Amino acid sequence: MEKMLIDVDTGVDDALALLYLGKCGKCEIEAVTTVCGNATVANTTKNTKYVLGLLEAQAPVYSGAARPLAKELYTAKSHGHAGLGNIEGVPEACLDGLAEYKIGAAVSSNAGITILALAPLTNIALALGRYGEQMAGARYVIMGGAVRDGGNVTEYAEFNFYVDPDAAAKVLASGLDITLVPLDVCRKLVLTRRQLDSLPETTEVKAMKAMLEPYLADYEPAFGGAVLYDPLAAMIALDQKEAKTEGMCIQVETTGGRRGSCTPTAGEVKVVTEIDEEYYLREFLRVFA
Ligand code: RIB
Ligand code: CA
Repeated sequence: MEKMLIDVDTGVDDALALLYLGKCGKCEIEAVTTVCGNATVANTTKNTKYVLGLLEAQAPVYSGAARPLAKELYTAKSHGHAGLGNIEGVPEACLDGLAEYKIGAAVSSNAGITILALAPLTNIALALGRYGEQMAGARYVIMGGAVRDGGNVTEYAEFNFYVDPDAAAKVLASGLDITLVPLDVCRKLVLTRRQLDSLPETTEVKAMKAMLEPYLADYEPAFGGAVLYDPLAAMIALDQKEAKTEGMCIQVETTGGRRGSCTPTAGEVKVVTEIDEEYYLREFLRVFA
């Protein structure tokens, strides 16, 4: 069973990734750490606890950075007013600010653990700054970046890399064992309303539908459904059978009009360049069917 620490800015697709991971039976969640991004860290933390509560998952949640390393916080628009679509009444959660410490502890006490980063990389960069070489004992699977395709915040930049380009630049240049799941392939994994309606009305599925309302409304015109960015990275972290990678060095621009953009050259970061989207969509639907 794969041991995993998940870093999230729960938002709608982070929530779907957590629901998948909690139900897939393929991983043991060591901890979940939260960061600002789709919403404030107060909202991403309470949203994360709400989603784990749906699963009755016992994973501990530790909150992290309330702002990027050097930029002002820029939050997303398509996740609803508090980051979980139309879900109402999510209880407030306490913020302990321990994320970077818990990431370091998880890596040093679990050789080979997978750190699944589904958010701006602020917490990962802070842990890297604090623990340095000790962080090398883990595998990192990161959802982020637009490598050969255009961005989803500006024409050049993907959201996670745009929000904290300084953290992305630091982590991608660190030499850690990184698999990057960029927009280029995430855009191929789309959940349609019809597929969502084909699922049985369990507690989780009812919650997913409420979360997805504004997200679907935002994405449906251009994609015909909800783009499952974070669920794809979560599934690839556990099963790369239908994902091809290429070794690249990814340089991240930290300022100006190309803030958050990626310049790929030959290197060691394993960038996912091709997926069998049908395979991963079937796998995602399997756990909720
Ligand atoms: O660009 C998509 C990424 O940004 C996803 O992780 C989404 O949740 C947002 O954080
Ligand atoms: Ca996310």
